[in-house]
Amino acid sequence: MPVITCIDDLKRIYKRRAPRMFYDYAESGSWTEQTFRENVSDFDQIRLRQRVAVDMSGRSTATQMIGQNVAMPVALAPVGLTGMQCADGEIKAARAAEKFGVPFTLSTMSINSIEDVAEATTKPFWFQLYTMKDTDFVSRLIQRAKDAKCSALVITLDLQILGQRHKDLKNGLSAPPKLTPATVANLMTKWRWGIGMLGAKRRHFGNIVGHAEGVTDAANLGAWTAEQFDPTLDWGKIARIKEEWGGPVILKGILDAEDAKMALQVGADAIIVSNHGGRQLDGAISSIKALPSILDAVGDQVEVHLDSGIRSGQDILKAMAMGAKGTYIGRAFVYGLGAMGEQGVSTALEVLHKELDLSMALCGRRRIDELDRSVLMVPEDFAGRWQ
Ligand code: GLV
Repeated sequence: MPVITCIDDLKRIYKRRAPRMFYDYAESGSWTEQTFRENVSDFDQIRLRQRVAVDMSGRSTATQMIGQNVAMPVALAPVGLTGMQCADGEIKAARAAEKFGVPFTLSTMSINSIEDVAEATTKPFWFQLYTMKDTDFVSRLIQRAKDAKCSALVITLDLQILGQRHKDLKNGLSAPPKLTPATVANLMTKWRWGIGMLGAKRRHFGNIVGHAEGVTDAANLGAWTAEQFDPTLDWGKIARIKEEWGGPVILKGILDAEDAKMALQVGADAIIVSNHGGRQLDGAISSIKALPSILDAVGDQVEVHLDSGIRSGQDILKAMAMGAKGTYIGRAFVYGLGAMGEQGVSTALEVLHKELDLSMALCGRRRIDELDRSVLMVPEDFAGRWQ
């Protein structure tokens, strides 16, 4: 058993074990990947203020996100195709999150279905919704999430159309993988993954195949998704979905203060400052750089969360000290999952927790509600002067 000390250790094992096509899917940004890179490197520009001779006993990272108790301010982000990184990936990740005491968010584009995850867990999870042209299908998805007792609906706003990720096109990404000579050659080196997949509950998009009109296999699924994401999504539709859902709504993909104000108007319970992990608009600002202006605009009226770029507990600390009320990890848990299944996700959460806890202590803070901007040293020109 290798000694895992950081998220990068899990990433190295994940790279060895997961099929190339799915590693590349997770590890890509769109086009030049500038935003993908800056999501991470912009965290590095912020420094933490070391404080000493402060009583460090009785520390806790526990807090709340949308009024729900969390062991630390981190939710598992919705990640498409998670069940291709590792057999039954969504079930395993949801179980690890439940054991740790943090929310799991199931993607519409998951392999395990809403019902699979509900059956395998004992506490409510969150469901992420993509809006599709087929409104009956969307209504059925919402009803299924209600029936599964999901405790929040996360509506993704930044993927009405798909940003181009070059590697996915070159690899011919599909679920399950299409068996081209190149794919077969790569899969032959991934025996652990293959054995797991033989016993997997599902190998197709579980929320869609058999639920959406006319979708029975992966071949026509590809065409269906390209056609079905709703390019006409607007604030009016979001308000109607919120009404149909009737529970807590989190709006994901806000990167601009004006959009944050619109989210407030439709009554979002929380917003997620996000650029989709750098997978959509390449050239967009990093999430951590967008956070201050969004907090200034709406931070006292709605819970502001952050995703995109979190790879360590120190990153979580920086986002929280900046004023976020919660963070999300996507790639950081996928690395763990692809490396070691459920245990790997638990390890990822433990690594992040330890980093967060110890770094808070070294900043002289014992609780999440003691974090504020005085913990940080932020370069004067951090947010940049943009015209
Ligand atoms: C879907 O959410 C993706 O980024 O591929």
